[in-house]
Amino acid sequence: MYTALLLRLLQCKSWTALCSTIILRLTEFRLPEGSESEIPFVAGGFLSLLQRSNCSQLTTLVVKSPTLGLQYTVISILKHTPSLINLTIYDAVPRSGDLDYLPIITPGFLRGLLVPDSLSLFGSSSIIVPKLRNLWLKARGDTFDEGAFVDMVLSRWLPNGLEHSVYADLEELKFVDLLVVGRRVDKDVWNRLDGVGATGLRVRLLDGLE
Ligand SMILES: *[C@@H]1O[C@H](CO)[C@@H](O)[C@H](O)[C@H]1NC(C)=O
Ligand SMILES: *[C@@H]1O[C@H](CO)[C@@H](O)[C@H](O)[C@H]1NC(C)=O
Repeated sequence: MYTALLLRLLQCKSWTALCSTIILRLTEFRLPEGSESEIPFVAGGFLSLLQRSNCSQLTTLVVKSPTLGLQYTVISILKHTPSLINLTIYDAVPRSGDLDYLPIITPGFLRGLLVPDSLSLFGSSSIIVPKLRNLWLKARGDTFDEGAFVDMVLSRWLPNGLEHSVYADLEELKFVDLLVVGRRVDKDVWNRLDGVGATGLRVRLLDGLE
């Protein structure tokens, strides 16, 4: 269904019209689950639409599709969806005999979501998804980095709202749901999140699952 729609959109000549009719109205996008051959095509096509129309109002992105090499596409999509509020990413956890898909939730990915604590280096344009409020992640224990994760959450935690006032568009993260499959996270690192609840940021962790 997505494939046919994307093919038609990509052939379309009038981007202004497209913008007001389709992309503008699209508030939720879910990568299809299941069809492995289709996913990279759909993800790439969607990114191409976002880049060409530059008018995304997307508030929800859901990626639960095990597939190859999706990480950079997902990061690029996030760079073009400044209105995003809800983000779900479930990495595939390979079982013996499965293809080993590259995870999306790598340390580099988590650093990409980090809000730098000053404007000195890159300016506000380096913040991606400034309106992000709710985050659901399922990560593979072998490639998950709790340090990078905790840094990212703390960078989007605005206990007094003032520290980050330079970022006019930035909203505080409100809810994080994290599932780490295959090992337990380092509790010393995790405990750095003690205290975020005081301002209403809820972080839920489930780790050590198989
Ligand atoms: C996209 O739109 C924003 C503002 O709506 C503008 O600042 C930016 O330059 C545009 N980017 C491109 C590549 O057209
Ligand atoms: C984001 O997710 C929350 C919790 O599921 C939901 O209540 C809310 O409507 C969602 N917001 C948008 C803009 O989709």
